Amino acid sequence: MLSNHFERLSAVLKRYCALWQYVPFAHSTPPWLHTYRELGDALFALPPASLNLLLNNDDQAENWIAPFLPDLVALQDDWLSTPAPVTNALPFWLTNGIKGRKLSQITAFTAQLPSSPNHWLEWCAGKGHLGRAALFGPVHQVSSIEWQQSLCESGQRLAERHHCQQNFIHADVLQDDVSNYVHQQCGVMALHACGQLHMQLLFMAKQQKVPAVLVCPCCYHLIRDEQYTGMSQLAQQQQLTLSKLDLKLPLQQIVTTGARGQRLRDTELLWRLSFSHYVSLLTEKQVYTPLPNFAKSLLTHSYEDFCRWACAEKSIPFDASLLLDSLALGETQRQGLARMELVRQRFRKPLEYWLILDRALFLQEAGYQVDVMRFCDFSITPRNLLIKAHLAN
Ligand SMILES: C[S@@+](CC[C@H](N)C(=O)[O-])C[C@H]1O[C@@H](n2cnc3c(N)ncnc32)[C@H](O)[C@@H]1O
Repeated sequence: MLSNHFERLSAVLKRYCALWQYVPFAHSTPPWLHTYRELGDALFALPPASLNLLLNNDDQAENWIAPFLPDLVALQDDWLSTPAPVTNALPFWLTNGIKGRKLSQITAFTAQLPSSPNHWLEWCAGKGHLGRAALFGPVHQVSSIEWQQSLCESGQRLAERHHCQQNFIHADVLQDDVSNYVHQQCGVMALHACGQLHMQLLFMAKQQKVPAVLVCPCCYHLIRDEQYTGMSQLAQQQQLTLSKLDLKLPLQQIVTTGARGQRLRDTELLWRLSFSHYVSLLTEKQVYTPLPNFAKSLLTHSYEDFCRWACAEKSIPFDASLLLDSLALGETQRQGLARMELVRQRFRKPLEYWLILDRALFLQEAGYQVDVMRFCDFSITPRNLLIKAHLAN
């Protein structure tokens, strides 16, 4: 039962909140060290190479932490349903202009569409690729709602070119009254609609008693309020307080970008941290100095070049004598952060499951029959959890 899994997740997330509900950046050592001594000893005994390996491999990291937090690792995902297999490919002319991974997401998503109803509303549609693809499955008519006028226009042109029964509605789903479009004759679907956007859809689906719902959430932290309020009654009883920062955790998985990508990411973090120490050494004030985005080609130069650029950016003097010390301090901090993240990241999946189950339970409490599934592989998108629900009679 979904509610049993949810309660188990709640208990573990609350029990270990000290291990994940904090800002690693604000600490030089993990704030939980005194409470979890054995875990801390093992964490700090890890040689840098092993640490790096574990940070890049979730399965190995889970095995490593299991002796210290067995009840965390025992949380299974056997409550997930099996998705319907992807059988039919889309006609090639329809897929022009849809990038590879997005296309795989769309074909996997549309394979989960039920045989009824045959009219669907596509929420936060972009150019409506998903909606058009759905018309090559069991769906006869799609309305696609999107707030960017230019995307609506492009999508409508594509629909007309391909003779698709798809109409675009230009609206802001958080500001405009769109309740007319969410109704009892129409299923609703959303692929990668951010926090408040998909939550709004679920609230409206319940209110308007829509017959079927297919939602793949993303960006849980993009919500209106500073703190998360559980959607389901069960979540509201759990007393698990989640800030926007907590809600970002599920999105912080390291997506493998190859050895070069990983090297650049590591260098960027090291140099950003080191430059902040440079400023502290220069000004004798301990504050973190953030830097704006920059061309990644800068990372293939030297730390000195990076510092010169950063000094110009912040209008502060360049002092070559601070380079070595700031780099050493940056490296120490980077290692510390990596160790904290190795533990914190183990709560990423449980927290995402908690959030998705909250949505699923919200629908269940409203009379829907609900399945949650991993509709495509993690390598296609890390946000690969799909809620599939239909209103039980
Ligand atoms: C992450 S994209 C997903 C697009 C599409 N579903 C896909 O998977 O390719 C989110 C879409 O939501 C739209 N959007 C953002 N805020 C919105 C709002 N308040 N009302 C309607 N659409 C919105 C954006 O313009 C964007 O096209």
